[in-house]
Amino acid sequence: MNNEAKILITGCGGMLGSDVYRVFSEQYGNIVATDIDLNEDWLQYLDVRDIDMCKDFFEKVKPSIVIHLAALTDLEYCELNPEEAWKTNALGTENIALLAKKYDATMIYIGTAGIFGGEKDEFTDYDTPNPLSYYAKAKYSGECFVQQYLSKYYIFRAGWMMGGGIGKDKKFIKKIYNQIKEGKKELFVVDDKLGTPTYTVDFARSISKVIQTEYYGLYNQVCGGNCSRLDVANEFVGLMGLSDQVKVTKVTSDYFGKDYFAPRPYSEKLVNLKLINRKINFMRDWKVCLEEYSEVYREDFEKEKK
Ligand SMILES: NC(=O)c1ccc[n+]([C@@H]2O[C@H](COP(=O)([O-])OP(=O)(O)OC[C@H]3O[C@@H](n4cnc5c(N)ncnc54)[C@H](OP(=O)(O)O)[C@@H]3O)[C@@H](O)[C@H]2O)c1
Repeated sequence: MNNEAKILITGCGGMLGSDVYRVFSEQYGNIVATDIDLNEDWLQYLDVRDIDMCKDFFEKVKPSIVIHLAALTDLEYCELNPEEAWKTNALGTENIALLAKKYDATMIYIGTAGIFGGEKDEFTDYDTPNPLSYYAKAKYSGECFVQQYLSKYYIFRAGWMMGGGIGKDKKFIKKIYNQIKEGKKELFVVDDKLGTPTYTVDFARSISKVIQTEYYGLYNQVCGGNCSRLDVANEFVGLMGLSDQVKVTKVTSDYFGKDYFAPRPYSEKLVNLKLINRKINFMRDWKVCLEEYSEVYREDFEKEKK
């Protein structure tokens, strides 16, 4: 990929989008970043469900690379609104894949570890998906369209995403932090869900390096190590310097059955088999990444105390 490449990014206003935008802006001069949530002044409005709008963008930008991040990422919302999940996560991806083919662009799609059914402890790039939730089914359809329409593509499967900072993080770390900030002295966290955290900073940097190889295809791309939700919560509370003030109590998933009702596998741990064997695995260990990431939360917490 040369530095003159024109890049179109969808869904760039989310958790991963900020880091993708920053990393790619450092290398490429010509980036058009889009989303339906215009939370940054560098974003333009593009709804991936609308093929006419997508076509106009492709015609205007003529991208050589399209990074497709747009998705509905709330599993419970997708479970309650399956048609919305299909429209955004499957049809939206099919729209972008069709246009990438028409305009001869390389497509980068972000897959999810959640497409596995949890029959085993860990999954390589070659294991067969068995998506349980509507979110996962629609995301897996997205993978299939990308593979069906294109030869110049990368699918990077992420695990439990951590990143985006206080303003954009919608996932586990932010949910734990919100409880700490509210003054909770006991946190209830499940130990029967296993996965691999995936730091947005490493993930974005790694995408930019792997695509230089032109070894197209599908890659698991998660941080090193693996853990349960309980391990992540304990590590985060420790990094916040609050181990002696905030107790983390182990519960099973039944405890949250009402709030988190979308089916989730027992294990969605990924192994970066292809990246490691091709010697292009740039992802650091999850504990190293969490230490770096928790800095923004420590700063915010200190400010709050003053
Ligand atoms: N977060 C995770 O744990 C995780 C794990 C594995 C894979 N992924 C994948 O990684 C990618 C990036 O996700 P993320 O973590 O950055 O999630 P995110 O913070 O929810 O970002 C996704 C962005 O896409 C936007 N969007 C939703 N519908 C759209 C549409 N029709 N057209 C254009 N944009 C739309 C969202 O806007 P709204 O906020 O208004 O909906 C949001 O700004 C997604 O493909 C996701 O499936 C995420």
